[in-house]
Amino acid sequence: MKRLIIGNWKMNPPTFKEAKKLFAASRLAAEKARSVTLVVAPPTLFMRELRAAYRGRAIQFAAQNANDEIGGAHTGEISMRQLVDAGAKFVIIGHAERRALGENNETIAKKTAAAIALKITPILCVGEHERTQGGEYFAQVREQLRIALSGVEAKDAGKVVVTYEPLWAIGKQEAMQPRQMHEMSIFIRKCIVDLKGAPGMQVKILYGGSLDASSAPAMLKGGDVQGLLVGRASENPVQIAALLEAIEDDA
Ligand code: PGA
Repeated sequence: MKRLIIGNWKMNPPTFKEAKKLFAASRLAAEKARSVTLVVAPPTLFMRELRAAYRGRAIQFAAQNANDEIGGAHTGEISMRQLVDAGAKFVIIGHAERRALGENNETIAKKTAAAIALKITPILCVGEHERTQGGEYFAQVREQLRIALSGVEAKDAGKVVVTYEPLWAIGKQEAMQPRQMHEMSIFIRKCIVDLKGAPGMQVKILYGGSLDASSAPAMLKGGDVQGLLVGRASENPVQIAALLEAIEDDA
């Protein structure tokens, strides 16, 4: 099965000209990395045009966020339906940076259910703020999953992609250790199967946080994950090429 690599560009780059350059580099790298499906999540403003100009198959597009309502008086929001129309096949839901802006588990549940209804793949992000000796983070992750998936029917559970990205590992120097992720991946799988039964076995589990070309292959090998969510390294043409090449060489 191809590994899913999500490139979350966040609020970068500053201009569409630079976005086109970054996309061109990502595209070249993705075409060479045959063991990978690259999903780029550019700022929404850039996505439709990048999508419209792209004829290949190596890249898919994701939105970084979406409003679950179909329309209405929601100044400044973009609906999931509009993002599907712009070519998004995936939508990131509940990223730690969105949670920090006030998004809660209930809102995330609505978005996840809306994504399933619109046939766009939700990339549901979960993860604790910090790790304490008592291991409370397991209960936090279980609770995030329980609420976020509450509007998803068991038969649809396998359509969800879950990304574990603890806040303490995002935007740092080093990624989490693969063996720690391995443990978390088993835990997440068990939670989802407890909640939704056998379809939970189909869920793809990803890791996100401070990955680069040197840590990504090891995480894919030892982390019990089916893909990765990459922030900074996806926003740089040289780094995304190096990261995809390293994964491919190790495949
Ligand atoms: P980073 O971002 O790779 O820059 O740490 C990852 C994320 O947003 O999950």
